[in-house]
Amino acid sequence: MNDHGVAHGFTSVDTQPRPSDWVHVLDRLAAEPFYAAYKQRLQEFLRVEAGGLFLEVGAGTGDAAVALRSRCGAEVVAVDSSFTMISQARARGLPRAAVADGHRLPFGACQFDGAWADRVLQHVADPVQVLDELLRVVRPGGRVALADPDYDTQVLDIDDQELAGHVLRFRAEVALRNGSLAHRHAGLLAVRGLHDITVEARTLVVRDPSAADNVMGLRTWAYTAAARGYLDPIDAERFVAQFDDAVRTGRFTYAVTFFLTVGTLPKKPMTSG
Ligand SMILES: C[S@@+](CC[C@H](N)C(=O)[O-])C[C@H]1O[C@@H](n2cnc3c(N)ncnc32)[C@H](O)[C@@H]1O
Repeated sequence: MNDHGVAHGFTSVDTQPRPSDWVHVLDRLAAEPFYAAYKQRLQEFLRVEAGGLFLEVGAGTGDAAVALRSRCGAEVVAVDSSFTMISQARARGLPRAAVADGHRLPFGACQFDGAWADRVLQHVADPVQVLDELLRVVRPGGRVALADPDYDTQVLDIDDQELAGHVLRFRAEVALRNGSLAHRHAGLLAVRGLHDITVEARTLVVRDPSAADNVMGLRTWAYTAAARGYLDPIDAERFVAQFDDAVRTGRFTYAVTFFLTVGTLPKKPMTSG
């Protein structure tokens, strides 16, 4: 888990130059069939029953929480550390949305039938603490679901594979706080006593570099790495030239695998400590 002082926008949406840009990023991604499909699957993992009470941490615009409520008839509470996001969530029909830090959830123990965090643990300062908070507020026998890309799984077809590796590693190890944690989510649940753990891996394959919000900014990562002293500026130029060449010749291919993980809390209340 890293903290190299390279703050991704999602670590602090409200202090970005234009916080609403990050709302648009989430909207663009949510419109992608890959994202829509895995998000629905993550909700299936929760085994929601009508009348249940569920919590989404790092809910962003609240769209997923609204969808769960409409589809399953459950009550959903959404929290996010960003006021901008929570304003959106309320405007989109989620009255039970509050600004809160996932490291310190403003709820008592065992209040929810289930909870989930989707593309959130990758951004937080202490993902284990956030996970422990999710487990604390879910009742015995409830479900906790997590989803994140694991950036250690990235591949990119440009001529210089060593250079591709440098830039992709920058993304995995520096540009995100916990960019390669997702394959360890199941283990974190297992050592905390959860059972019935399921992991599904879904690979996002991008052949159109303008898709998936420009592959989450991939073309610019080399410049960011150079600006931070992680890459020679000449190599950044070479990366962009090879990226553009791959697009021009129709060979552009980027892939990254997302891990969807869920587990069931033990029937007896979990003790803290
Ligand atoms: C990549 S977005 C994902 C949003 C939403 N879950 C989705 O799938 O569209 C990450 C979200 O986590 C929020 N976030 C980041 N750090 C947080 C923290 N410590 N506590 C709560 N939310 C946090 C951000 O504000 C942002 O809305």
